[in-house]
Amino acid sequence: MQGNDKFGEFLKDVKTLAIVCNQWGDTGKGKFVDYFSEWADIIARGTGGANAGHTILINGKKFVFHIVPSGIIHDFEGKINIIGKGVAFEPRVVKEELDVLDKAGLSYKNLKIAYNAKLVLPQHMLMDRIKEADSGSKKIGTTGRGIGPVYADYVSRVGLSVNDMLNKEVLVKKIKKNLAEKIKLLRCYDKEAIKEIMHHPHLSDGRFYSEEEFFDVNAIAEEYYEYGKFFKDMICDTDKLLKDVLGRKRILLEGAQGILLSVEHGSYPYVTSSDPSIQGLTKGVGLDEKDVDLVLGIVKAFYMTRVGKGPFPTELGGERSEEWCNTHTRADEEKEYGGGTVNSSDEFEQGVGIRFSGSEYGATTGRPRRTGWLDLPLLRNAIKVNGSDVILTKLDVLDGCKIIKVCMEYEYDGDDYFIGEKVFRKGDRINVGVPDVNILKHCRPIYKEFPGWESDITKAKCYDELPENLKKIIDFVWESVGVNAKMISVGPEREQTIFKE
Ligand code: IMP
Repeated sequence: MQGNDKFGEFLKDVKTLAIVCNQWGDTGKGKFVDYFSEWADIIARGTGGANAGHTILINGKKFVFHIVPSGIIHDFEGKINIIGKGVAFEPRVVKEELDVLDKAGLSYKNLKIAYNAKLVLPQHMLMDRIKEADSGSKKIGTTGRGIGPVYADYVSRVGLSVNDMLNKEVLVKKIKKNLAEKIKLLRCYDKEAIKEIMHHPHLSDGRFYSEEEFFDVNAIAEEYYEYGKFFKDMICDTDKLLKDVLGRKRILLEGAQGILLSVEHGSYPYVTSSDPSIQGLTKGVGLDEKDVDLVLGIVKAFYMTRVGKGPFPTELGGERSEEWCNTHTRADEEKEYGGGTVNSSDEFEQGVGIRFSGSEYGATTGRPRRTGWLDLPLLRNAIKVNGSDVILTKLDVLDGCKIIKVCMEYEYDGDDYFIGEKVFRKGDRINVGVPDVNILKHCRPIYKEFPGWESDITKAKCYDELPENLKKIIDFVWESVGVNAKMISVGPEREQTIFKE
């Protein structure tokens, strides 16, 4: 691929490249991380944890990985993969992922783990799940991987880091300190519910459970100390490693989730607890935004998806879809709506049809992803942070869709609402999305309709081979937002990638 002129030209002046997502995640970052891993010497991840999921093809078989960077399959070529300090590190999951690699005969000898990555403990998963179970209709719809509690503990100054697994006495002391307040709080909760969660396979089937104190500190410390021994040779100062080679080696920064799920820039509180924007990604690997030569923000087009709860103005089927996706499985959906297509006349069923066509089911939870039309106000907002160079993905999912709708702006239909010095009033037109729940839930999308394209685009090799109707939408949309669509993905394989210029 690097012999390919376009590819060489594209990355001519680039030493550090970042791939982030401009939506709610699940936009096909994995394909592009894999694509650019061939170019990179080092692949580094800096945010999120086992809440993320990327599918990796190993010897023709699909595996879903959560924490190990997608670039790991290039380890045998001497490429370094880094799990940075901003990552929520769950040792059980990472060990399982490495076991999979072992079984497939693949190496991970160049994997490096930040000594100061945030350590996920059983109590984090318990707190996450209890809080969700207790929140009724106010649920966030988390993945249950302890992400919120682990970052909360870090900023509350009671968190543990990967390094603590190497020092047994400190490990025991810190686990006790971390648990002290939680145990007091847990005494107010339903004991049977706690017991049940503690016996979940993600919490090692009850191995860490104690009837009296809920947690068996010794069992946790023993297990984590053993993990420490296992990971010891991989743990190091990854910030320094990257700084030392910055500008000399080719570095690929692999984003997780998407900017609309950012705790800093997303639709708070319906977000994850790290910052998947370029700002959070660079911070999570110990670099600065200005160290990055090219940021490519992925945009799924011309539909988008969201997992879990929270506002989604262009959602097909609105609240019905949100409710359905958060309470049903793929199997339920196939049974009930097996005939849904991208052209179904009922909006909800059209959403299901797009889900079928794009295989939009969570890699971590298996949940159906809520689907809706591409939202330009939210994209205009995203590129203020992530920059205007984008990759369009999954365009082939809408092959054969007769009418494509694009949300150009919103009409606000809520009560007067202040955001800082600005007041939003009923009837206001909103061109740049404001990711505030109280605004978003009152935004009525204003669509422009475009005729779709009939043909199969998965075999297109260059921009000129794409159908005219599709190119018209791309041109219109990107002029209206001011983004530069650098690459276009027309299928899951590497070869199904088109450079626009
Ligand atoms: P958490 O990250 O598990 O705390 O979940 C918080 C919110 O982020 C929920 O709505 C999740 O569905 C969503 N979320 C977390 N990770 C992903 C992801 O990789 N893709 C899509 N949504 C995600």
